[in-house]
Amino acid sequence: MDFVSEYRLRKEIVDVCSKIYQKGFVAANDGNVSVRLDDGRVLITPTGVSKGFLSPEELVTVDLSGSVLSCGAHKPSSELPMHLYIYRERPDVGAVVHAHPLFSTAFAVAGVPLDKNVLAEVVLTLGPVPVVEYGTPSTEELPQALGKYIHKADAFLLANHGVVTVGSSLLDTFWKLERLEHFAQISFIARLLGGERPLSPEEVEKLNRIRERLRIRRALGASEEH
Ligand code: 13P
Repeated sequence: MDFVSEYRLRKEIVDVCSKIYQKGFVAANDGNVSVRLDDGRVLITPTGVSKGFLSPEELVTVDLSGSVLSCGAHKPSSELPMHLYIYRERPDVGAVVHAHPLFSTAFAVAGVPLDKNVLAEVVLTLGPVPVVEYGTPSTEELPQALGKYIHKADAFLLANHGVVTVGSSLLDTFWKLERLEHFAQISFIARLLGGERPLSPEEVEKLNRIRERLRIRRALGASEEH
C-alpha cells in the first residue's frame, strides 16, 4: 500500500473513531478500531487514547503475529490479541471495532443475547448477536471466548464488557456497530411495551432469499445454516 492510500485510510479511521465517540458508543479512552491493509499489515488505534481526540499519526501498524512495525509515541491497543485473532480466523474481515455502547453493553452485562428475528434490516444485514462468555480484557481469554462464535456472527456482546463488530470494510463494520446499538435500543423499548413479536419463519425465509439475491454478506448463525 502506498503512502497516500495509507494516509487516507488513517484519516478514515480517525473520522470513524470521532463518530464513535460523538455518538456515545465509548466513554473516556474506551474502545479500539483496526483495519487490515492490503499488504497484510494491520492499522490499530493506540492504547489509552480517547477516540474523540485521535490524529492519523498516532495509529500503530503491526503484523498478524503482533510485532509492532511503527508506533510513533504510543503502544498498540491492549486488545490487539483479540483483533489479530479475528483477522486470522476470518479472512473475509477487513475491519474490527470494539466499543461500549450503552444499550448493547447493557444487554451484554445482563447476559441477554440479541438473537430474535424481529427487524427486517437486522435479519438482512446483521443476524443474531450472541453473548460471548466473559474474558479478562486485553488477555488471551477474550479471543479464546470468542472462538465458539467467531464464524457464526458479525456482532458480539462481550459479557460484562462491551461489544465487537466485524465487517468487510471500516464503514461496513461501523454500520454494524450503529445497527447493533439501534437494535438494542428498540429491543429494550419493545420489552417495556410487552415484548417483541418475532417475524414468522416464512417471513424470515423471504428475507434470507432477498439477502442471497442482493448478495449481502454476513456470517450465518448456528440456527440459520442449511
Ligand atoms: P485500549 O485503550 O488499550 O484500546 O483499551 C480500551 C478498551 O476498551 C479495552 O477493552
